[in-house]
Amino acid sequence: MANERRTFFIETFGCQMNDHDSEIMAQLLTGSYRPVLNVNDADIVLVNTCSIREKAEQKAMSLLGCLKIIKKDKPHMVIGIVGCVAQQEGKKILSRLPYVDLVMGTQNLYNLPALLGEIIHNHKRIAAVEQSAAFEIPPYLPEVDKGSVHKRFVTIMQGCNNFCTYCVVPFTRGREISRKFKDIIAEVRHLAAHGVREITLLGQNVNSYGRDLKSGQTGFAELLRAAAEVEGLKRLRFTTSNPRDLNDELIQCFADLDILCPHFHLPVQSGANSILKRMNRKYSIETYLDLVRRLRAARPDIAITTDIIVGFPGESEDDFQATMNLVANVRYHGAYSFKYSDRPQARSTAFTGKLSEEVKGERLARLQKRIGQIVMARNQEYTGKNYEVMVEGRNKSRPDQWFGRTASNHIVNFTGAKSLQAGQIIDVKVIEACQHSLRGILR
Ligand code: SAH
Ligand code: SF4
Ligand code: F3S
Repeated sequence: MANERRTFFIETFGCQMNDHDSEIMAQLLTGSYRPVLNVNDADIVLVNTCSIREKAEQKAMSLLGCLKIIKKDKPHMVIGIVGCVAQQEGKKILSRLPYVDLVMGTQNLYNLPALLGEIIHNHKRIAAVEQSAAFEIPPYLPEVDKGSVHKRFVTIMQGCNNFCTYCVVPFTRGREISRKFKDIIAEVRHLAAHGVREITLLGQNVNSYGRDLKSGQTGFAELLRAAAEVEGLKRLRFTTSNPRDLNDELIQCFADLDILCPHFHLPVQSGANSILKRMNRKYSIETYLDLVRRLRAARPDIAITTDIIVGFPGESEDDFQATMNLVANVRYHGAYSFKYSDRPQARSTAFTGKLSEEVKGERLARLQKRIGQIVMARNQEYTGKNYEVMVEGRNKSRPDQWFGRTASNHIVNFTGAKSLQAGQIIDVKVIEACQHSLRGILR
């Protein structure tokens, strides 16, 4: 053990910010430690957690339960809990879970090597969960072997100031902190120079990028325009945004920038104004529909997707019907829907009018059935037409079949190609719509 490099394994739950944080952690550790593909082979296991819904938190907790058992036979194994649950629960995890060695919050990511060094060499157990308004996202340049990956994420901001009443993110990720404009563009340039073709700009609330920067001059639209200029890039995406901060400058980007993909994830949460108000979303359904109309005017081929919560405290059957009407009205290209769940720290946890699991489950089933029909009808609109598809790879079980994505973010499975490279853009004729993807042939 002393002369051999220790091994590590990272398990990730939650959103794209967490996926990206895990990527950063892996890079910070590679060099001193060696990545392995199986938990059982690892000397260090990090669980990157999500606490957005009760279920997400339970998943991480049950993995930790398994690790506890593995550690009985492997006492030297270091177990770290990182990410949003770590931030939320803080150092009390160390007393509650005696087999956990590290609790690391969302702003402490870049200290990971030093923290692990302390644990391994000085046999400490550490909780590093401080958050500070003065935190800065460091100028990070990912290591990429030239031509090895075709799409990557770039963090542009961290945290959220919106305090939607059901949401833990402002607590787990702290206040909004924008990364420096020049650091972001340097990272985008670096990635493009290494063959990355598609970049997704990441933040919990990207529309308010730049508000906290000292210069106060650069907003999200300016950032998009600058990233769009970077040589070598073929596609630009971003996620996620709250409709309340969506402004005309951003809508104009969809009209002006071909490289900006025609897809907008615009979480609505509910179709009822009274519920939106109690969620503290700060927009009405009327203003939301107007945004949808303006986005479609700016970019007629734009695919709009959303998130919906059913069974928010006090949601009546009429409120729920308003959500059903909204999805039929907007005709989303895709929608994620969730049963409301109480979260520690979120204000709605103290609201009256909680609904039973049964009512929430029954409403969710009705909504998902409706969404399924709408999405299928939307997918059918793509058949018979040609689209540019960015190749992702070959289907493992059917070697004659390839898959990739349209700019609208639809997955396309296609045939008719012999040899292709991930990241290559090709023309595909869509011949069939399925529930979660499209089928096509190479032109
Ligand atoms: N920043 C994004 C949301 C990120 S969280 C935005 O502002 O829209 C992803 C989704 O999880 C949310 O859009 C919401 O639909 C869902 N969600 C958040 N908290 C929840 C809760 N307490 N119960 C159920 N779903 C929740
Ligand atoms: Fe959560 Fe609302 Fe912030 Fe989105 S905008 S992360 S839902 S508080
Ligand atoms: Fe989950 Fe944290 Fe993302 S709570 S959704 S991992 S910001």
